[in-house]
Amino acid sequence: MSSPSADAFRYAHAHRTEIAWLSQNTNHLVPPEIVRGALDEAIRERRYEGYPPASGDPELIDLVTADLGLAGTRPFLTGGGTESLYMIARALLAPGDEVIASDPSYLIIHRFVELAGARTANLDIYAPPFRLTAERIQEAIGPRTTMVLLIDPLNPLGSGYSREEVRAIAEVAHDHHLVLLNDVTYRDFSEGHALAAEFAPEETVTVWSVSKSCGLAGLRLGGFAAPPDRVRAIARFNTNDLGVNILAQVAARAALRTKSSWIGEVVRQTRENGARVREVVAGVPGTSLPVYPSRANMLVIDLGATGVTPEAVQEELLFHHGVFVRAGNYLSPHHGQRFVRVSFSNPPGDIERFARAFPEAMRTLSARTATPRPA
Ligand SMILES: Cc1ncc(COP(=O)(O)O)c(C=O)c1O
Repeated sequence: MSSPSADAFRYAHAHRTEIAWLSQNTNHLVPPEIVRGALDEAIRERRYEGYPPASGDPELIDLVTADLGLAGTRPFLTGGGTESLYMIARALLAPGDEVIASDPSYLIIHRFVELAGARTANLDIYAPPFRLTAERIQEAIGPRTTMVLLIDPLNPLGSGYSREEVRAIAEVAHDHHLVLLNDVTYRDFSEGHALAAEFAPEETVTVWSVSKSCGLAGLRLGGFAAPPDRVRAIARFNTNDLGVNILAQVAARAALRTKSSWIGEVVRQTRENGARVREVVAGVPGTSLPVYPSRANMLVIDLGATGVTPEAVQEELLFHHGVFVRAGNYLSPHHGQRFVRVSFSNPPGDIERFARAFPEAMRTLSARTATPRPA
C-alpha cells in the first residue's frame, strides 16, 4: 500500500499544470528565458549524445567558485546537493560517530548519517530562537561527536544565522576539531548570509545547490566545496564518475552568468509572498507562524491549537483546492504532527490561491474534528 505522501506526489505530478506547487521550496520566479535559450541550443547541438567533461564545465566551475566567494576551495559537482550530502556522510563518518543536528531539520541528511553507521544528536529547536546556538552545540559535544550539521537557512523553519552566530559555531567546530557540514541550499534568500568556511576553513564542508536559487531543481545539480585534501577524501565516494548531467550544467551556467540581474527580484517577490502568507495565517484561528520573517523561501504553519492534523490539511488543500503544501512529519520526529510547511517562491497568483484555500480548508477540517456537544 502506498503512503499518503506518495499518493499526494503522484496526484500532484499528474495534475502539475493545475497545481500551485508550494510543497518543495522550489523556485518558480526565475525568468524562463534565462535558461531556455541555452537549453535549446544544447539540444540542437545534441550535446546529450556525449558525456560532459567529467570534472565539470570549466566556466561553470569558475562561476560557482565566484558565486560562493570562497578562496582556496574548488567546488565539486554532484547530482544535486543531495548526492554531496550522501558522499560526505559516507566519507567522513565512521560507525558510532555522533553528529550534532536539530529537530526540526532536513531529515534526509540524518538518514545518510545513519547509513554510515553514525547517529545524530537532535537538539530540539522548536522554541525560540528556533535555531542552534554555539552554547547548545558546545554543551552537546560528547566523546563520539565528530560533526555538526549547520543548515543555514534551515528547512523547514526558515530560520537563519547572523554572521556572529555563524562565527561562534565555526569557532566551536574549530576548537573541538569537528567537521562543520554547512548546507547553504537557501543561502540566496538570506540577507547578510555568512559562510562558515570563512571562519573555520579547514573544518567546514559547504554544500550548495542551484535547485532553489536558480530554479533548477528538476535538473539535479549541486555540489560541495572544501579544502583540496578533503575534497579528494569525499570524492572517493563519487559514483557519478562520468560527470553530472550535461543539460543541467548548461542551464546552471546560463543562470549563474546572469544571476545578478534577476536574483534581487526573485528575493523581493518571495518576501512579499511570505508577508501575504503571514496575513492569511493571522486570519485563521489556532494557527500561527513560529518563525517570521523567513530567511529562506518557506514558513512553517503551526496547527497546534486547531486539533487538525497536518496530513488532513495537505490532503484537503491538494485534492480540493489544487494547492500543494507539505505535512511536517518528514521534517521533525517530535513536532511533525503539529505543522505544515508552505513555500512561496511562486507567482503571486499561486499565493492568492493559497490565500483563498487555506482559511476554507481549515474551516472544513475544524468543523469535521469538532467534538459534537451533548444535547
Ligand atoms: C536543506 C536542504 N539541503 C539539500 C537539499 C537538496 O537539494 P538538491 O535539490 O540540491 O539535491 C534540500 C532540498 O530541499 C534542502 O532543503
